[in-house]
Amino acid sequence: MSQLIRFLAVAGTLAGYAQSLSTFQWPNPLLSYADNQLYEGNLDLTGGCPTRDDTTISAQWLRVAYHDMSTHNVDDGTGGLDASIMYELDMPQNVGEGMALSLQDFNGFGIVTPFFGMADVIALGAVFAVVGCGGPVIPYSAGRIDASTAGPPTVPQPQQNLTTHIELFRQQGFNETEMIALVACGHTLGGVRQVDFPLIVTDTSTDVDTFDTTPAYDNTIVSQYLQNTTQDVLVVGPNVTTQSDLRIFSSDGNVTMQSLLSSDTFSDTCAALLQRMINTVPSTVNLTDPIAEPFQYVIKDPFASATVTMLWADQQGDSFCPSTGCSVQSSSIQPVFFTITGKAQNLTASWYLFNATINSTSSISKFWFEINNNDGSDPIVVDNGGSGFAIEQDPSLSLFVDFMRSETVQLETPGDFTAFQKVVVAVLGNAASATVSMTAFTPFSTALAPPFTPTTTSISLELDETNPPEGAFTFFTANVSFSVTFLDITANVGSTSLTVENFNLAAAIDSFTLINVIPS
Ligand code: HEM
Ligand SMILES: *[C@@H]1O[C@H](CO)[C@@H](O)[C@H](O)[C@H]1NC(C)=O
Ligand SMILES: *[C@@H]1O[C@H](CO)[C@@H](O)[C@H](O)[C@H]1NC(C)=O
Ligand SMILES: *[C@@H]1O[C@H](CO)[C@@H](O)[C@H](O)[C@H]1NC(C)=O
Ligand SMILES: *[C@@H]1O[C@H](CO)[C@@H](O)[C@H](O)[C@H]1NC(C)=O
Ligand SMILES: *[C@@H]1O[C@H](CO)[C@@H](O)[C@H](O)[C@H]1NC(C)=O
Ligand SMILES: *[C@@H]1O[C@H](CO)[C@@H](O)[C@H](O)[C@H]1NC(C)=O
Ligand SMILES: *[C@@H]1O[C@H](CO)[C@@H](O)[C@H](O)[C@H]1NC(C)=O
Ligand SMILES: *[C@@H]1O[C@H](CO)[C@@H](O)[C@H](O)[C@H]1NC(C)=O
Ligand SMILES: *[C@@H]1O[C@H](CO)[C@@H](O)[C@H](O)[C@H]1NC(C)=O
Ligand SMILES: *[C@@H]1O[C@H](CO)[C@@H](O)[C@H](O)[C@H]1NC(C)=O
Repeated sequence: MSQLIRFLAVAGTLAGYAQSLSTFQWPNPLLSYADNQLYEGNLDLTGGCPTRDDTTISAQWLRVAYHDMSTHNVDDGTGGLDASIMYELDMPQNVGEGMALSLQDFNGFGIVTPFFGMADVIALGAVFAVVGCGGPVIPYSAGRIDASTAGPPTVPQPQQNLTTHIELFRQQGFNETEMIALVACGHTLGGVRQVDFPLIVTDTSTDVDTFDTTPAYDNTIVSQYLQNTTQDVLVVGPNVTTQSDLRIFSSDGNVTMQSLLSSDTFSDTCAALLQRMINTVPSTVNLTDPIAEPFQYVIKDPFASATVTMLWADQQGDSFCPSTGCSVQSSSIQPVFFTITGKAQNLTASWYLFNATINSTSSISKFWFEINNNDGSDPIVVDNGGSGFAIEQDPSLSLFVDFMRSETVQLETPGDFTAFQKVVVAVLGNAASATVSMTAFTPFSTALAPPFTPTTTSISLELDETNPPEGAFTFFTANVSFSVTFLDITANVGSTSLTVENFNLAAAIDSFTLINVIPS
């Protein structure tokens, strides 16, 4: 039985390295998934701050995050960034085509999982929005819980007075100074759309009246305001009632705006406030520690000449592996292609691939790594703070998805070129009479407009005719659509119930053999 295990080595400071290891204990599926989405994930559309609909993708994504968060109430701990925005788009404060479009983007990525919902994606979108337009990297936490109904209509509107705005921001958890800065940190991107705000943008030949002259995430919004050259229509628009940015920015005699004239202060202030904004969640929700750098199996940048060895201990004492562990050297190295978040942190890293053949009787209990720089210095041991990386799925114990027997099937029947995944599950024992079933999670919603909610389907597995029992295992199979990303599997063998939860099929599929079924 063999399994490829991916191992990430990343450049970083020694301090960063020590910190990563202390905050991250493997395994942690939520943190690992969030880390992967942040540094190698699909939201990587914002690099270079691309234009869309006369504004930018980043502007649209950041506004969605703020509006979703705006339902928070510090007084009773309800609301916050919880994807309730999906049910609030008919409220007047949420007008604007960027809202539905952004949520369609997030649905289309198909990255929600049973433990990482739309609210986590919206928050991640805000991180990508800011860094994509040249702003700071906002440390990201995961663990939000999606709401299933609308929250209260508490998003501020331009025609409201300053007293109302101060009270709405207080309810969201921000004081008056923070309100001024947060509005500037938002209105550095994008602008106001004529069709949606015809009383504010009165020139019908204008599509979007941008808040400042640069699409970038910078403090031009501040400097142009203080120089009286601003084009922000919420400052200089024709109707005094809707000059909300002017009322807010000047509410402390411009003191806060003056402080934001330093681009470093602007960047640091916005990073801190936007981090608080995306972490504003109902009081019952617990978020993970913030991710400020990639930490999965992190080691300090090894020399190019380094030898990286994976070691492991078997499950049954020292019956097979020596007391120092079984070992294998990495067989190949691949570069990591970082998202804009990693690029902004100047990260370079490699994946070290290992092909370890694990004795199926003695199995594996944990693994760890040794990096030898081959320069006379002591090898560096990476062992998850001493405990080693405990194996999530012990093959000898019970139930697992068999990567080697699973296949990607491409039918080549004329008129039917369906592709699907033939998932093969190994069940311990002479288990032909077992009942094996799984819940398949499809992240994509086929709805045309929000709310977008994932679906789960129950699938029964059949005894696999093409893979007769071998060794201690019996094999079961089912055909699964490509839209399925996660599986929960249960096998009832006699009176024993075996389960595998949150198996990431989308990640495993790369290692499945591809077969073409050509009709005879
Ligand atoms: C009193 C508070 C606020 C008011 C009255 C307000 C009002 C508005 C209005 C009327 C628009 C135009 C929307 C459109 O045409 O699509 C807008 C756009 C925007 N707002 Fe705010 N806003 C406020 C606070 C914030 C905050 C705190 C943030 C984020 C931190 C933010 C982020 C944005 C962004 C990024 C856009 C541009 C959207 C795009 O170009 O598609 N706003 N805001
Ligand atoms: C602000 O608006 C609120 C709600 O419309 C109103 O009750 C309040 O009197 C206004 N305050 C001022 C100072 O105009
Ligand atoms: C808002 O809070 C910040 C930091 O907690 C503090 O420095 C600032 O003085 C406060 N502003 C107001 C108006 O209370
Ligand atoms: C900007 O304009 C306002 C109102 O016209 C004026 O009070 C203020 O002094 C001007 N500021 C600068 C820096 O020119
Ligand atoms: C100014 O805006 C307010 C609020 O949208 C609106 O009620 C009022 O009619 C507007 N005034 C003018 C002159 O357009
Ligand atoms: C704040 O700055 C704006 C824009 O320059 C200006 O119009 C206004 O007079 C200033 N307010 C104070 C109190 O300095
Ligand atoms: C959050 O953490 C607290 C304290 O550890 C715990 O009691 C609570 O159940 C957790 N809530 C959720 C939703 O996991
Ligand atoms: C990344 O490298 C660029 C170009 O060398 C530099 O300007 C920037 O400050 C670096 N950023 C970080 C976070 O080290
Ligand atoms: C892994 O090693 C086994 C046994 O040495 C070999 O049969 C197999 O082809 C290797 N797999 C890969 C992907 O290199
Ligand atoms: C696997 O380990 C067992 C002891 O746990 C040993 O008897 C057996 O020979 C090993 N199999 C192989 C192929 O090395
Ligand atoms: C999976 O699809 C193939 C090809 O259509 C079919 O032969 C096989 O019976 C299917 N397997 C199951 C378990 O439905």
